[in-house]
Amino acid sequence: MDERVVKFKETAAFISAKIHGETPETAIILGSGLGKLAEQIERPVIIPYADIPHFVRSTATGHKGNLIFGALGGKKVLAMQGRFHYYEGYSMQEVTCPVRAMYFAGVKNLFVSNAAGGVNCNYKVGDLMIIRDHINLLPNPLIGKNVEEMGPRFPDMTRPYDLALIQLAETIAEEQHIRLQKGVYLGGTGPTYETPAEYRFFRTAGADAVGMSTVPEVIVARHCGMRVFGMSVITNEAHEFPPDYVNDGGDVIKAANQAASVMSMLFTEMIARLA
Ligand code: HPA
Repeated sequence: MDERVVKFKETAAFISAKIHGETPETAIILGSGLGKLAEQIERPVIIPYADIPHFVRSTATGHKGNLIFGALGGKKVLAMQGRFHYYEGYSMQEVTCPVRAMYFAGVKNLFVSNAAGGVNCNYKVGDLMIIRDHINLLPNPLIGKNVEEMGPRFPDMTRPYDLALIQLAETIAEEQHIRLQKGVYLGGTGPTYETPAEYRFFRTAGADAVGMSTVPEVIVARHCGMRVFGMSVITNEAHEFPPDYVNDGGDVIKAANQAASVMSMLFTEMIARLA
């Protein structure tokens, strides 16, 4: 067996043992400042990343570093309270290891979230954006020898984000009067925020929001056939730069906190209605 598969299966077996052999059908990755949703998980089993074989440490601000299993919307879920980023110095294999482990632990649906800069001129701080497509400017996590057991050599990327899940989100948003944007997320390496010229370049290229994560996890999830739903919380307006404006990340956590409760409600309701 490929040594990477051996490792992923070891991680999956560790997680399965901790959650008493249960199968979480849905996993959630919570981005910067979005970890609050995990507090709503009932009967939680909390597994610190430091205890999990082959997991690296979460060093980014606003990322707690726990894997949490429990019930949300009446369904079994596995939530990552904080993720791994390429800018932390981890390889793309390390960044995406949790998604592979989730796959071998039986996860079928992946919900991903992040904090992002809104390059679309109509986007405001605190907006929630359904990710309908992405542009990848990070290294592709599938570079290297392909293991057919995990997925095909050349995965289809025509529909990375599940259309039925997008529809479900829009239905719930309409019922509950939640304002949602829908757009294209561009994933870059960071750790610098973009210059005004780069934000303009990305807008021209078709991006609506820009961040430093998510795309690697989505690529790996699609490679192994999971259904994916993605959401960005717009934490800064990357189209207005008043003379005294500084992008220091402080607003990122604050804005994420406020929008996080609306996103939590939406995710919970979506999961409750999953077939
Ligand atoms: N750029 C990249 N990543 C981000 C941003 C941004 O403007 N805001 C929050 N995460």
